[in-house]
Amino acid sequence: MSVRIFVPKDAAAVAVGADELAAALAEAVRISGATVDIVRTGSRGMLWLEPLIEVEHDGVRYGYGPVELSDIDDLVAAGLLTEKDVSHRTALGPTEDIPFFKSQTRLTFARCGIVDPASLRDYLGHDGYKGLKRALSLRSLEIIEEVTKSGLRGRGGAGFPTGIKWKTVHDAQADRKYIVCNADEGDSGTFADRMIMEGDPFVLVEGMTIAGIAVGATKGYIYVRSEYPHVIAALNTAISAAHNAGYLGRSIAGSEYAFELEVRVGAGAYVCGEETSLLDSLEGKRGVVRAKPPLPAHKGLFGRPTVINNVLSLSAVPYIMAEGAQAYFDYGMGRSRGTMPIQLAGNIKYGGLYETAFGITLGELVDKLGGGTRTGREVRAVQVGGPLGAYFPRALFDTPFDYEAFAAKDGLIGHGGVVVFDNTVDMAKQARFAFEFCAIESCGKCTPCRIGSIRGAETMDRIIAGESGERANLDLVTDLCNTMKFGSLCALGGFTPYPVMSALTHFPEDFAIKSPLPAAAE
Ligand SMILES: Cc1cc2nc3c(=O)[nH]c(=O)nc-3n(C[C@H](O)[C@H](O)[C@H](O)COP(=O)(O)O)c2cc1C
Ligand code: SF4
Repeated sequence: MSVRIFVPKDAAAVAVGADELAAALAEAVRISGATVDIVRTGSRGMLWLEPLIEVEHDGVRYGYGPVELSDIDDLVAAGLLTEKDVSHRTALGPTEDIPFFKSQTRLTFARCGIVDPASLRDYLGHDGYKGLKRALSLRSLEIIEEVTKSGLRGRGGAGFPTGIKWKTVHDAQADRKYIVCNADEGDSGTFADRMIMEGDPFVLVEGMTIAGIAVGATKGYIYVRSEYPHVIAALNTAISAAHNAGYLGRSIAGSEYAFELEVRVGAGAYVCGEETSLLDSLEGKRGVVRAKPPLPAHKGLFGRPTVINNVLSLSAVPYIMAEGAQAYFDYGMGRSRGTMPIQLAGNIKYGGLYETAFGITLGELVDKLGGGTRTGREVRAVQVGGPLGAYFPRALFDTPFDYEAFAAKDGLIGHGGVVVFDNTVDMAKQARFAFEFCAIESCGKCTPCRIGSIRGAETMDRIIAGESGERANLDLVTDLCNTMKFGSLCALGGFTPYPVMSALTHFPEDFAIKSPLPAAAE
């Protein structure tokens, strides 16, 4: 039997040389005459080990990483193409025994890094389309009931119960309905959507197909940011393979249901991740936030009832349908059920994708799994939930990863991005950055966001410059934050106060006057 060597083609691995490694390995195989298959997979999510190559022996994959091009000759000479667990500087032993990997609960990411994302056969061989098969044996309301009972909440940021959203679209009367997948993934430090779409695109295709059957939609769109060319290619390959095999098209797996899927590429704006401006963008307009009501579930894409869900929400559905709502619900805590693919990023030693049940504490994530900072300095602040998320100081590291627990600390878990900063960070500058980011990305529709963010950045400039009268400036920042929080139309303006106020609350020392201006002449 031939040996199989796995080399990721995930963008993060490709960025550090995975394509060159695959080519060098292919050449080494050709020269040696060994019977070896090189399979390109997604990433295992341990980004500090990329490029991570794996060699399978007796069903166990042995990892080597990070591997450099110059390591290939040594690895081959040591027996990589034939032997198990060869001795080399990069040898890691069985990949799934690496503590970072072993302690995870991979439900959504179960296949990522394991299967060939371009192969429908591989997908089917790893329980793919098991969820669809079960969905086809149920009535549409029973599917929705399963999703509701699983406790799944939107992974895009707001945490809205997915089953309730689907039921609203199911109940809406219309000649046509849509499923839209939000793959804009604009949050800082997040990459889970990208990783699953590159590593296991069929799971999203399956999840969207189940959603279509459940609510009575026959057409779906995946709105992908243009910065994700590998995703776009992987999705198009998967969609055409699913189509050719009858998993998409006029009769899904021989049933009476029809469902078509198309990839649409965004033009690059953070606000186009907001669901209503995403719909405008999909319709070919400039992405501007729509006032609600009407909800997209009633009047969404082209004025029709539309389910709009994040990649991770839709990708969790095949597991829920295949294993049952209870199996998913059994993980997690409180009202946060199931697992969350958490992304450890920023200044962190062991960055990557960590899927786990809700309930793990921020401290465990940052210190234990992440290993602290990459610079080796003390961790000072952690921003959770993207650019609109709060900064957490070490004093709050006992907060469990849970929607309500984070909200109780004036934070949010958002899309699960965790960005770590060491003790060289200047939190006043971070607060200024939040205002500046909002000013740049604002769609401009409402005044608190459009003007407030600019006034906020200007006021922070005065504080940072050490202008006298700092109390008045800090009061002004607080006042602006309240206006933005309660007066903005969407969460871009409404949540910018989170990073600003958390920085001010937890790190007040950074807002003190640093270099007082000379006293004005009398
Ligand atoms: C400014 C802004 C940007 C957003 N960006 C994204 C995004 O990139 N991806 C995403 O899934 N949701 C994003 N959202 C949340 C969406 O509006 C929406 O809640 C989500 O797509 C619903 O899907 P879910 O229920 O599965 O989370 C954003 C919201 C705001 C206000
Ligand atoms: S808060 Fe900002 S992004 Fe949202 S609608 Fe208002 S101006 Fe647009």
